[in-house]
Amino acid sequence: MAKKITFLGIETSCDETAAAVIRENDKDTADVLSNIVSSQIEEHKKFGGVVPELAARAHLENIEYIIDTALTESKISIDEIDGVAATAGPGLIVCLTVGLNIGKSIAAFSNKPFIGVNHLEGHALSPGLENKIKFPYLLLLISGGHTQFLIVKDINKYEQLGTTIDDALGEAFDKTAKMLDLGYPGGPKVEKFAKLGDKNFFNLPEPIINRSGCNLSFAGLKTAVLRESKKINGDDELKFNLAASFQNTINKILFKKTKVAVKMFREKTNKESFQFIVAGGVAANKTIRNNLLALSNEMNFEIVYPNLKFCGDNAAMIAWAGIQRFKKNMIDKIDIEGKSRWPLDKNAPYMKGPGLKL
Ligand code: KG4
Ligand code: ZN
Repeated sequence: MAKKITFLGIETSCDETAAAVIRENDKDTADVLSNIVSSQIEEHKKFGGVVPELAARAHLENIEYIIDTALTESKISIDEIDGVAATAGPGLIVCLTVGLNIGKSIAAFSNKPFIGVNHLEGHALSPGLENKIKFPYLLLLISGGHTQFLIVKDINKYEQLGTTIDDALGEAFDKTAKMLDLGYPGGPKVEKFAKLGDKNFFNLPEPIINRSGCNLSFAGLKTAVLRESKKINGDDELKFNLAASFQNTINKILFKKTKVAVKMFREKTNKESFQFIVAGGVAANKTIRNNLLALSNEMNFEIVYPNLKFCGDNAAMIAWAGIQRFKKNMIDKIDIEGKSRWPLDKNAPYMKGPGLKL
């Protein structure tokens, strides 16, 4: 029987300092031996968003302790691991550098291979920690910085079908929470308060819904929420109605655009049955999960979600992506640097800004 690969993973691309130790198992999934995440919510709460310098400083203060805890909890020594993976992008350079530098040092001192992981690939492969994944699959990646439909053909082989032309979905949730004064971090707050409201109360726009394949847009919706929020004058009931209507509109948009993406996937791959994976921080939203589950029943495909603890940023998914790349011999040089922008499909058109044609 082939040796089971064990990796240390490190994640510091944004506002979570995380380390994990993962080992492959016989089910083609992973044994998560430890998964330590230290969130910086308290540091950024009063600013209503992530402040890069504060985030970098918090990573620096915490990273050694987090890695130490991950190793201790896993009962695995550095000598027993087969390699180290750290997020190399996309993300805030000042933050990425913290995890990258310590990851590279551990690898160099212990004479182990080092892998710089694309954070988005970490999210893309994250359901594989607990589910057997079959390529090619359709991926909807929804996080604080990214919103994309992709065909995942293999490790490192992605074809983008659609993306947002303005805000990322997590960003739209975060801005809505801010406009409604619901607290930080925005996504979970909107979901919580939306439960108390009437989702059909406000009629909000679904931007570019009838255009442009499975590209998405949320800026017009955000403006509409801002306009309505100015009229509610601290009335909690109206506030909850607006949160609920916003979330309902998002669900309507995702339902319709995923339908288009599924058709595109089937045409391009000639595969009727396939897995549809929804990953990233926003995939933790239960109404979105149920909404897309209903679509999977209607269109007859299998839907796979990561466990809630692997939706938001974590290092288990980074270690897992590291193991997959290691097995394909995709080992990085020790001088690899952080990248602020690192699309999964490097041939995909850049969809933001002037000159955009839909
Ligand atoms: O993947 P992630 O942890 O970090 C990035 O790579 O960006 O995603 C964070 C995003 C934030 O915008 C957060 O508000 C959103 O995911 N999020 C949610 C929920 N939980 C987290 N959005 C909607 N509903 C949720 N329950
Ligand atoms: Zn993320």
